[in-house]
Amino acid sequence: MLKNLTLSLKTDILKFIMRKSSHSLLDAIGNTPIAKVSFKTKAKVFAKLEYLNPGGSVKDRPALFMIEKAEKNGLLKSGGTIVEASSGNQGIAIAMIGAIKGYKVIITVSEKISEEKIKTLKAYGAKVVICPATNFIEDSRSYHSQAIAIHKRTPNSFMPNQYFNVLNPKAHYTTTGPEIWRQTKGKITHYFAAAGTSGTISGIGKFLKKKNPKIKVIAVDVNTSFHATDGHPKSYKMEGIGIDFKTPCLDESVIDEFISVSDKQGLGMLKIMAKKYGFLVGTSAGAVSYAVQNYLPKLKKGDVAVMIFGDSGRAYLSKNYY
Ligand SMILES: Cc1ncc(COP(=O)(O)O)c(C=O)c1O
Repeated sequence: MLKNLTLSLKTDILKFIMRKSSHSLLDAIGNTPIAKVSFKTKAKVFAKLEYLNPGGSVKDRPALFMIEKAEKNGLLKSGGTIVEASSGNQGIAIAMIGAIKGYKVIITVSEKISEEKIKTLKAYGAKVVICPATNFIEDSRSYHSQAIAIHKRTPNSFMPNQYFNVLNPKAHYTTTGPEIWRQTKGKITHYFAAAGTSGTISGIGKFLKKKNPKIKVIAVDVNTSFHATDGHPKSYKMEGIGIDFKTPCLDESVIDEFISVSDKQGLGMLKIMAKKYGFLVGTSAGAVSYAVQNYLPKLKKGDVAVMIFGDSGRAYLSKNYY
């Protein structure tokens, strides 16, 4: 029995080494670096550069996690189609993974997303369905409702359903959280991330709270989102941020504070981050860095803050924010 156990352990280790040394593009997802941001403060402030993932955003992680779980559970089969609603980046991640693994991909997006994101999706071979920007996700014209309709009428299709799939936060609990803990040598005291589906803030937040319940977990939202307005949302320009519905991906038990940022504040910060600090970041990172900049007076010597930079400014250059 012991011999069998040793053999099975050896096989597992071998499989792990083979996957790690296969040099697949998928192996390049995660393990992103952190970089110091020279904000004026006695504390240390770092950005986790999620835009260095191969698909260009933080969404590579949940996309891969949900797809590989679906393959394992038999929900996604060879020759299948992946259908997903996305503010762009989750779609781009799925399109890239679909290209590598040989799946057809259909992504529904809101009309407000940048031209660069639409062109990127198409470059990976995905079919893009552009839907009207609606205030409520339940609206039958919304990109979420449209994705469900397409999924229902497409045979052999799978919808990861990032907005309601708890594997989304689990991807961050399993990968991004441990990385941040390791990279700060367990010294992190404050963690900031933009909340969209809320997978990033909740998954990493849960991991960090487990390691040290004193770590402050701070979610950055849009000031006119469904969550920030108690169910009376108004449209906004920023992408990849804004809690637009009630979702099991949002774990409020691990969040200490929500900070709401307006378009003017978040988009205005983009120029400062690029020209003063050298970070050409996307709109959600603009909002997060605005929130952190305003939080600086509350940080003290010895504190270590980490914020997530979800994607790059290169995806928004046509919007002339910079
Ligand atoms: C650039 C960017 N930042 C942050 C987020 C928010 O992450 P989450 O959906 O995990 O809340 C997204 C989500 O699409 C994103 O694209």
